[in-house]
Amino acid sequence: MCGIVGYIGKRDATPILLEGLHRVEYRGYDSAGIAITRPGGLQVLKCQGRVRDLENMLPKRFKGAPGIAHTRWATHGEPSDHNAHPHCDAANRIAVVHNGIIENAAALRARLMSEGITLRSETDTEVLAHLIAAVPAETLADAVRQVLRIVTGTYALAVLDAERPEAIVVARNGGPVVIGIGDREMFVASDPAALVAHTRSVVHLDDGEIAVVRADGYETSTLDGGPTAKTPSVIDWTSGSFDKGGYSHYMRKEIVEQPEAVRRTLRGRIEPRFQTAHLGGIELTAGELLDIRRIKVLGCGSAYIAGCVGAHLIEQLARIPAHAEAASEFRYRNPVIERDTLYIAVSQSGETFETLAAVQEIKRKGGRVLGIINVVGSTIGRECGRGIYVHAGPEIAVVSTKTFTCTSIAFALLAVHLGRIRDLSTADGRRLTRALAAVPEQIEEIMGREDEIARLAEMLLGCEHAYFIGRSAGYCVAMEGALKLKEVSYLHAEAYPASELKHGPLALITPQTPTIVVIPRDDLFSKNVSTIEEIRARRGPVIAVTHPGELPVKVEAAFTVPQSEPELDPILLNIPLQLFAYHVALRKGCDIDKPRHLAKSVTVE
Ligand code: F6R
Repeated sequence: MCGIVGYIGKRDATPILLEGLHRVEYRGYDSAGIAITRPGGLQVLKCQGRVRDLENMLPKRFKGAPGIAHTRWATHGEPSDHNAHPHCDAANRIAVVHNGIIENAAALRARLMSEGITLRSETDTEVLAHLIAAVPAETLADAVRQVLRIVTGTYALAVLDAERPEAIVVARNGGPVVIGIGDREMFVASDPAALVAHTRSVVHLDDGEIAVVRADGYETSTLDGGPTAKTPSVIDWTSGSFDKGGYSHYMRKEIVEQPEAVRRTLRGRIEPRFQTAHLGGIELTAGELLDIRRIKVLGCGSAYIAGCVGAHLIEQLARIPAHAEAASEFRYRNPVIERDTLYIAVSQSGETFETLAAVQEIKRKGGRVLGIINVVGSTIGRECGRGIYVHAGPEIAVVSTKTFTCTSIAFALLAVHLGRIRDLSTADGRRLTRALAAVPEQIEEIMGREDEIARLAEMLLGCEHAYFIGRSAGYCVAMEGALKLKEVSYLHAEAYPASELKHGPLALITPQTPTIVVIPRDDLFSKNVSTIEEIRARRGPVIAVTHPGELPVKVEAAFTVPQSEPELDPILLNIPLQLFAYHVALRKGCDIDKPRHLAKSVTVE
C-alpha cells in the first residue's frame, strides 16, 4: 500500500527520501514522487512506475530540505504521472502526500471547481493541497487542522509549505504515521522500515492527532488544537534485518530464517517449573482466564488462517470452544459481543484496516481483545493494549510465511497456558513444551531437503488448477498452502476439507488437476487414505505431505516432515507448502516478492 517518507534537518533531503522510499517498496505501489523545499519554492517530481524510475528522472540540482516523498497504490484515479503524489495547489506552495481515502472528495472537488480551481489529477488527495493553500491561517498546522475538520475518510498525511519551511505537518486518522527522532533532524514515515537506517527512537501518532515536526523537535495535538503527550519508543529491528541478505527473494529468505524466528517467538516463554507457557503481555489473571467461556479469533488472509490453526489448538488443549472468522466479514454483521468471550486479533503488520475496525467494534461494545501481532507499536497492537508479540522480525515479501509460522507458535503457547490453567496435565504440558522447543530444528531438517520440494513443484508446471485438501487442522494447512500458491504463482488453487470432496469438487478431478493431500499420521490417517483412493479412481495425480513411513496407497509423489506432537503437526506440515509455492512461482518466472495486484499491509477497505 502507499508509503510516506519525510525529512527535516540540515542534510539534503533527496537521498534520504529516496532511500526511505526503497525501504517501503515492499508494500506494493504503482507510482512514486518527491517534493523538496529550496529557496524560491517547491521542487516536485513524480512518475508512474518504480522508485528507480523516479531516481533516473531526477535532475542533478534536485536538492534541499525539508522534503516529503510517496509511493502510491491507486485508489482514486488510475496509476499515472499526474495522479502520483505529492499533489500541490495552483501556486505550487503546498505539497501533500496522503495514504488512505477521502470519502467526501467528490463534493470537495465540485466545490473547488465551482470556485474556478483547475484540478490536475483524478485523485482525492489533490483537494487537500488546494484547500490548505486557500484557508486563512497563521500556521501551516492551523490550516491543516481547519481542512481536516471538513474532510471525512481515512488518512495519513504529510504536508509541506514552501513559505514556511521550518516544519512538516503530519496528521493521522486510520493510517499509520511514525515520527523518527534524530540528532537535530527529524523523520516522518508511514512505516518504521523507512526510518531504521537513521534512528530507532520513534513516536507513533494516534488517530485524530496532528504533529508539527521541526528539525529540533515536534509537538503533537488533537484536531481541536489541544496538546497531547507522547512517549518515544525504540524500534527493535535493525536496518540490516530489512536487507535481502544474499537471497534472490525476500520470500525465500523469510522461509529459510524460520528456525531463528520461531526461537525468538519461544524465547523466555516456556516455563519448565510448571510445564506451561509464560506470556507476560496478555495482562489477564489466571482467574480472569478461567472465566473465559469462548474464544473468537479475527484476522484477514493468512492471519485469519493462522487464527484457524490457533482456534484448533485452543479447543484441543484448553477445551474452550474457539472459532476463527475473517475480520473483514465479522465487523459488518453486527456481531454479538459477549462478556465471557475472549477476542483475539491476529495481524502481521498490525495495520490491516479491517482487522483494526473489528477490534474497534468489539471494544466499542465492551468486549476484551488480545492481539497476536508481529510489528511492535503498530496500530492494532496499541489498540488491543494486551497480547503476544510474535517477534518474527520484519516480513518484507508481500506473502506471509514466517509470521504465519510464528503466529501458530504463539497460539500454541497461549493454548498451553490456557490449558494448564484448566485440565491440561503436567505431563501434557511437558510433552507440548518439549515439542515446541524442538520445532526450530525440525524446520531446519525440512529446509535441508528443499531440492526435493523444488522437484515436486515441477509437477505443477503444465497445470492450471490444483486442489489442496486436509482434515481438521490439516484443512487449515491446505487453506494456507492454496493461498500461498495462488498468490505467488497465479495458479488456480482451491482448498477443501478432505471430507467434503465427494460432496461436489470430486467432479473436477482430472489427470490434469493434481491434489495436494495433507495427511499426517494421526487418527484420521485411514480416512485420508480413503480420500486419496477416491481421487486416484478418477485418475487425479496426488502429492502427499505426510510423516515418514509407508503410505498404504499409491501416490505420484510424497514429501515427509518430521513428526511432532499431533496437536503441533500442522505447523510443520505447512513449511514444505511455502517452499512448494515459491518454487512453482520461480519456475513460472513470477514477481515473487511483489505479486500482481497485491500489497503488503492493506490499510484501506
Ligand atoms: C497472505 C498475506 C495476506 C495477509 C493479510 C493480513 O500471504 O500476506 O493475506 O495475511 O493481508 O495482513 P496482516 O497480517 O498484516 O493483518
